[in-house]
Amino acid sequence: MKIKFIEKNIKKIKADIEIILLNDIEDAEDRKLLENLDFKAVDESCVLLGDLKKIYVAYEDESYDSFAIAIATAVKKFQSTNFSSAKINLIDCKNEQLKAITEGSFLGAYAFDNYKSKKDNKKKQELNIIVKEKTAELEKVFEDSKIISKAVNKTRDMVNTAPADFYPSIMSDLAKELAIDSGIDCKVFGERYLEKNDMHAMHSVGIASIHESKLIHLTYKPKNAKKKIVLVGKGLTYDSGGLSLKPADYMVTMKSDKSGGCTVLSTIWAIAKLELPFEVHAIVGAVENMIGGDAYKPDDILKAKNGKTIEVRNTDAEGRLVLADCLCYAQDEIEDIDYIFDYATLTGACVVGVGQYTTGIMGNNENLKRNAVTAALKSGEYASTLDFNRYLKKTIKSEIADISNIASTRYGGAITAGLFLDNFVYEENKDKWIHFDIAGPAFVESAWGYNPYGASGAGVRMTIGFLENLNKEK
Ligand code: BES
Ligand code: ZN
Ligand code: ZN
Repeated sequence: MKIKFIEKNIKKIKADIEIILLNDIEDAEDRKLLENLDFKAVDESCVLLGDLKKIYVAYEDESYDSFAIAIATAVKKFQSTNFSSAKINLIDCKNEQLKAITEGSFLGAYAFDNYKSKKDNKKKQELNIIVKEKTAELEKVFEDSKIISKAVNKTRDMVNTAPADFYPSIMSDLAKELAIDSGIDCKVFGERYLEKNDMHAMHSVGIASIHESKLIHLTYKPKNAKKKIVLVGKGLTYDSGGLSLKPADYMVTMKSDKSGGCTVLSTIWAIAKLELPFEVHAIVGAVENMIGGDAYKPDDILKAKNGKTIEVRNTDAEGRLVLADCLCYAQDEIEDIDYIFDYATLTGACVVGVGQYTTGIMGNNENLKRNAVTAALKSGEYASTLDFNRYLKKTIKSEIADISNIASTRYGGAITAGLFLDNFVYEENKDKWIHFDIAGPAFVESAWGYNPYGASGAGVRMTIGFLENLNKEK
């Protein structure tokens, strides 16, 4: 769907159908009709009045979420018709509202049909977002929101792609394409590099796969960068669990275990397109966790890049092994880091703990975690902090190595995974690090608001929101 931002008197715009946002039914021109249809001003409530060529859609309050959900609902209704154009008139439009409407439209219009032999959504449709006066400021909000939405949708496309079509070398090829498109630097390393550079934790996870593991490093370096930010992503293109094989029902959807990696690739692409004044690095461990005669095993002891030894007690706790080496690589290769964030579909426990659409935020710096939650919520993502504690820290001790890759308790699994990663964050970076467990929101089988079935693109908007907040600081 084409989405355009225009200035004009709405009467003069030729559009087949008008979308009307409604918070209070009393305000509606067609109040009687809406009452008869039992229209209520609640999320996702929407009616199409075909004869009148109107789509009424409810919004609950003035928040980003409410507007974005409303327009996405209306866009989906519009897509279900054969009308070719629609318009929405935003009368006294503020920046925040335009951002929500633009992102809600692009995200709501998204459909993944690459594997459908008959495409549902082949109709050429157009949505016109109309304002009274198209100021330069509003135009920038629209253009920026378009870039952000594109980045979210790119993440969704990558994550939704089947594992036979998306393995580590495909991921690194895509990273190169994104780098060329946004004019940034891209380096890719293979398994020989991992072995030579003592990244045995990451290397071991990918041994049984027919696909070579790839370490991807993208760099965006604008002039006069204000700060240096490192984004690290778990890029498990498939997680079968390895020899600690997942039960059949749990393996389905594990193509989504590359979500953290896909998120950081699209996010750095967007940051470069938005020309944000920060040096940003995106590091992805692209690996496939499979079974085979040469697979790594429970009982193996692996040495990570920082020299720490890890007792493998479960090969399905592989993401933390990959991230351990990627975190070390980042800190060894990049000097004077201001922030280091990692993104991973790390634990089922996080989904149980905070819910499907919520990211679990962990780290050692209370302030930073608060700011991350605030940025997430403001950007339209849900997030909740999970606190480390001394007791849980003890549960990942190993009798024979420096640390175990699983905890001795079955409770608090999201936090013990976060504590494991903390072992690979160097002393000078402890307060600069945040771990985002996106196992819940990255891939959701129940659609909600502007998120369809499947990948949601979690992490992109909250990270850009965090950087935009940083940019406003002196
Ligand atoms: N990729 C999974 C985590 C996951 C679960 C992501 C559900 C998305 C949805 C991860 O590698 C994993 O298997 N974790 C184990 C850890 C356990 C063995 C300690 C888990 O959560 O069960
Ligand atoms: Zn796993
Ligand atoms: Zn995994």
